Amino acid sequence: MEPYFHLKGSYKTSADVTAARAEVEKFIEESKATILQKGVPAGRGAKIINWEIRDNSIFFDIESDRYLRAHDAFIRLRKPLAGVIGKAYKIGVRGVDVEEFIVKMPSKEPLHQQKIPFVKSIEFEDGMITLSLEVGETQLENKIPDRIISLIEDKIAAQSFGGKTEHWSLLWEGPKKEMTFNGDPTVEAEKRGWIKRAAGRGQWIHGPQMTRIFRTFEQIVLEEVIKPLGYVEMIFPKLVPWDVWKHSGHAKGVYPEIYYVCPPKTRDPAFWEEVIDNYKVTLEVPIDMIAEKIDKPLGGLCYAQCPSFWPFMQGKTVSDESFPVKVFDRSGTSHRYESGGIHGMERVDEFHRIELLFIGTPEQVLEHSKQMQECYKHVFNDILDLEWRMAWVTPWFMAQEGLTGLAGQTGVGTIDFEAPLPYRGKDGEWLEFQNLSVNGDKYTKGFNVKLQSGKDVWSGCSGIGLERWASTFFAQKGYDEKNWPEVFREKVGEMPKGIKFM
Ligand code: SER
Ligand code: ZN
Repeated sequence: MEPYFHLKGSYKTSADVTAARAEVEKFIEESKATILQKGVPAGRGAKIINWEIRDNSIFFDIESDRYLRAHDAFIRLRKPLAGVIGKAYKIGVRGVDVEEFIVKMPSKEPLHQQKIPFVKSIEFEDGMITLSLEVGETQLENKIPDRIISLIEDKIAAQSFGGKTEHWSLLWEGPKKEMTFNGDPTVEAEKRGWIKRAAGRGQWIHGPQMTRIFRTFEQIVLEEVIKPLGYVEMIFPKLVPWDVWKHSGHAKGVYPEIYYVCPPKTRDPAFWEEVIDNYKVTLEVPIDMIAEKIDKPLGGLCYAQCPSFWPFMQGKTVSDESFPVKVFDRSGTSHRYESGGIHGMERVDEFHRIELLFIGTPEQVLEHSKQMQECYKHVFNDILDLEWRMAWVTPWFMAQEGLTGLAGQTGVGTIDFEAPLPYRGKDGEWLEFQNLSVNGDKYTKGFNVKLQSGKDVWSGCSGIGLERWASTFFAQKGYDEKNWPEVFREKVGEMPKGIKFM
């Protein structure tokens, strides 16, 4: 079954067009073989099934398949038609009126979501979804109908994907290791006073000992990955405005998981005096009052870490001598609104991550990803002595846009580094403790980055989550230093004493 489009609409004219009837008819007859046939397989596309001259308007009833969609046909006719009536009769086209616009699309099941922008009604019958669109001139010109159709197609595809989750396939698996610990690493770290739940949701205060471990991890990454691969450090912003997420694609899906940031409506102290006085008198923060004094969210807290780097490159052509670009950021926290319930250190709303970002030709990027995998293998096998594996999964940027499956370009996608956590049992879910991705031209296109030589430009990135590394390492090795690998112990040095309480 094919999609079907049916549009009834008219062009408003500056005067009555009756006098131009013959010319209009001639134009329409000709357009059937010319304007409406351009780029369309013979016999397909849009058909004008009726037209009429009405009071100060010309009405069209157009039907089509997917080759030239009815609304595109309607728009195509506008300029040349205006030419015909303008030249001979000095009548102008003043605008567009869409009376009815019906789109039918094949689907095995009804659409779950019933609220779609610019859609009046959605029905399902005999393997077809029927939409009635409510659009005007601006929406037609801004290609809103096409985007509505893609949106519905995506939703139908996602629905029929069913409960099936994201893609996963094994790439590499290391040897089984004998585990020296089988407790919950968070519980044990808390008991030892290495970490303490912070006042915020999914947030921890890392004491001196855990901080030493994080810094040791960082040092390992610096020595074994960043230095040998030639990375330089940068500082990426951690408050991300909507514009960045529009270009990165996050604006398509990130809403349920971000921490929103709202600025004050003004920084005039007088405007805030009420709030201040209220607090001083009640000792309660008057959040409803605050809600009225802050503006709409201007964006959110850092979520994926690399998107806010890209405006540095936006619209630029990079000199060949700067290629490939290799930069990293460890300048601040990332934030995700995680699902409720109590989680350990492995699932937090505020976390610390080193993000490595590389840009090059497709060959350079693919090659670089391989080199980086070798560096990581060395770290996890020879320094941390972990049991772990690599899996090919739905690219993070697709997952973050709410899509499943794999990317279109070959070699483009995400590798998740996963490790078993003994305390979760033999069949427990493995923890994703970091990732490495080839992002294809997703970002270079999204932020319009070019290369001096004119070659294609790709990018990739890798996010190293310190809480995740710690959760993995301690889950497998425990807290008894003598069970830690020798090389690692040396790098840690003497553990700080921590703070004792009475
Ligand atoms: N940007 C990637 C992600 O969000 C790697 O950190 O997963
Ligand atoms: Zn990234």
